[in-house]
Amino acid sequence: MKAKVVYFSRTGKNKRVAEAIAQALTDDGNTVELERIETTKPGATLVFGVAMSVLKIPAKLVDPPSVDDGDLLVLVSPVWASSMCPAIRAFLATLPDLQGRTVLNVVCGYNAHESVARSINHEIKRHNAGTIVMESIRLRDVETPENLADYAHRIAKKALG
Ligand SMILES: Cc1cc2nc3c(=O)[nH]c(=O)nc-3n(C[C@H](O)[C@H](O)[C@H](O)COP(=O)(O)O)c2cc1C
Repeated sequence: MKAKVVYFSRTGKNKRVAEAIAQALTDDGNTVELERIETTKPGATLVFGVAMSVLKIPAKLVDPPSVDDGDLLVLVSPVWASSMCPAIRAFLATLPDLQGRTVLNVVCGYNAHESVARSINHEIKRHNAGTIVMESIRLRDVETPENLADYAHRIAKKALG
């Protein structure tokens, strides 16, 4: 199976989660491509980022990751201000018709935010996803490399069905 793992991360925590999921999928014999969502203003203040999150304003992206093919799309997203962060909102707007593809939607925060994961699901469904596996992670639960690897293998298996 061919999988694409897309993530946004400012300080590296979501990157670590995305890398662990990519590794777990690779360990299971899949072909995996990992790509970070890049915004045009990575140094913008957090206050600005919070305001944009709450007001549902998307960021501007540099070359959004292409997800035109593959069997599985994995999206790893941080929660900002109990909302979808601007980079993820912008990426979701670029999605093509997913033609029934399976999506693993992983949301990471200091706390579990199912409502944010559900909002992302809603957008993914509008782009014709098939099965969506939704996960809401508390970052402190995957702090150690062992916990993270276990978790990543567990959700990779769930997404692979
Ligand atoms: C501007 C901002 C707002 C955030 N708001 C929340 C929040 O409302 N709830 C929460 O659990 N975590 C919140 N977080 C924590 C992020 O979800 C967490 O830092 C992120 O998943 C890790 O980010 P990283 O990949 O850039 O390291 C916030 C972080 C930032 C930077």
